[in-house]
Amino acid sequence: MPGQKPIKVALLGCGTVGTEVVRLLTDQAADLTARVGAPVELAGIAVRKPNKHREVPAELLTTDVDALVESDVDVVVEVVGGIEPARTWLLKALTAGKSVVTANKALLAEYSGELFEAADATGADLYFEAAVAGAIPLLRPLRESLAGDRITRVMGIVNGTTNFILSGMDSTGAGYAETLEEATRLGYAEADPTADVDGFDAASKAAILASLAFHSRVTAADVYREGIASVSAADIAAAKGLGRTVKLLAICERVSGAEHAEESISVRVHPAMIPRTHPLAGVHGAFNAVFVEADAAGEMMFYGKGAGGAPTASAVLGDLVAVARNRVVSGRGPRESAYAGLPVRPMGQAPTRYHISLDVADRPGVLSQVAAVFAEHDVSIAAVRQEGRVDDASLVIVTHAATDAALRSTVDKIGGLPVVREVVSVMRVEGEET
Ligand code: NDP
Ligand code: HSE
Repeated sequence: MPGQKPIKVALLGCGTVGTEVVRLLTDQAADLTARVGAPVELAGIAVRKPNKHREVPAELLTTDVDALVESDVDVVVEVVGGIEPARTWLLKALTAGKSVVTANKALLAEYSGELFEAADATGADLYFEAAVAGAIPLLRPLRESLAGDRITRVMGIVNGTTNFILSGMDSTGAGYAETLEEATRLGYAEADPTADVDGFDAASKAAILASLAFHSRVTAADVYREGIASVSAADIAAAKGLGRTVKLLAICERVSGAEHAEESISVRVHPAMIPRTHPLAGVHGAFNAVFVEADAAGEMMFYGKGAGGAPTASAVLGDLVAVARNRVVSGRGPRESAYAGLPVRPMGQAPTRYHISLDVADRPGVLSQVAAVFAEHDVSIAAVRQEGRVDDASLVIVTHAATDAALRSTVDKIGGLPVVREVVSVMRVEGEET
């Protein structure tokens, strides 16, 4: 290795993640050199306001991102975020044959196809492990370790903010607004939590996961999305009463079988009840976990810290070592694999199950009126629980799998029955036999 040309790195962004990337690169310089087979040299750090970055060597800081990307660097690490100008910078880097490591889920969920094409044109690497579930090694297993298997389902908790809120609601019985306030006070939710609580962040991650798992291009626009703002204390209590808990899930699954002649995929983000015995139910606070099912490998679970400067920087550094090694041996990591081109099934045609909790009049014939609506929509009931009160009754129904459209129509019609006083809670159910 003596005399080996250093791998020169441009770091774009030095915020929560970038600062930790610099620290790890500096603290572990000797080990990284040994692992890569060449020194890894930080050539420059692009930021907006150099004056506020006293923690990094001043001579490395620049505001001229284009000049840094166009300089003689081998690798561009992007931890700025957002679509533009990150997209333009990374296209420029890849077109010039520089490898790219990015943590930018928003960008990848929209433009991974374009970025991969630019990478292919020059033989450059594009790695993005940190973009989904922070520190958890998840994309490499999907892209490489499981490349010989057939993945059927990826279901996970990929947003720490919403998991912190839902875990809090479950343990205290408090409502959504109150728990969000607490999460903001403790620094778990951002001042503007929209991207997290409305499910945009998880939808970007779901698009990336589905693309890799099913060898198809899926963008954020293909992902059905519901956030957690409408999850009520009553929903959480209803779940608890049935031995379930509520999680915001990113679900990517193959949909095939006799009724769906053409194989397709369903990609969606929404709150769902899962059994308290399911492995994902034990994932609390800001942690992430992803459950993967594959034909030959069976069920696997990936668990760990999904955010934070150091955990995310760990994933970035892992990618940096991989692309640097590839450059030392003039090799290349995996390219885009989108050969399957599976279509994404609209949400209305996705197979789902519902939990429906109703307040109904307690008199003869009510149950049969409600059951008739299910039959009319060809929705099969899996379980019914009725508890009488003084002059009304609580009726809880869990369905078998049906199309989401049929289930929605059923709920709409039931809500309009004169014998139904209130639809207390409606939520999808996941993680159980259909
Ligand atoms: P921050 O907001 O903390 O940092 C962003 C950095 O980018 C800052 O240093 C900022 O400069 C710099 N920057 C912004 N705009 C420009 C610009 N036009 N020119 C030059 N520099 C610019 O973001 P994070 O570190 O939290 O996130 C970075 C990326 O990592 C995002 O894509 C995010 O989604 C992803 N990610 C983050 C995780 C986390 O836990 N934070 C987890 C997983 C992924 P300045 O400091 O001067 O303002
Ligand atoms: N806002 C994200 C979360 C950060 O809450 O999980 C990691 O992408």
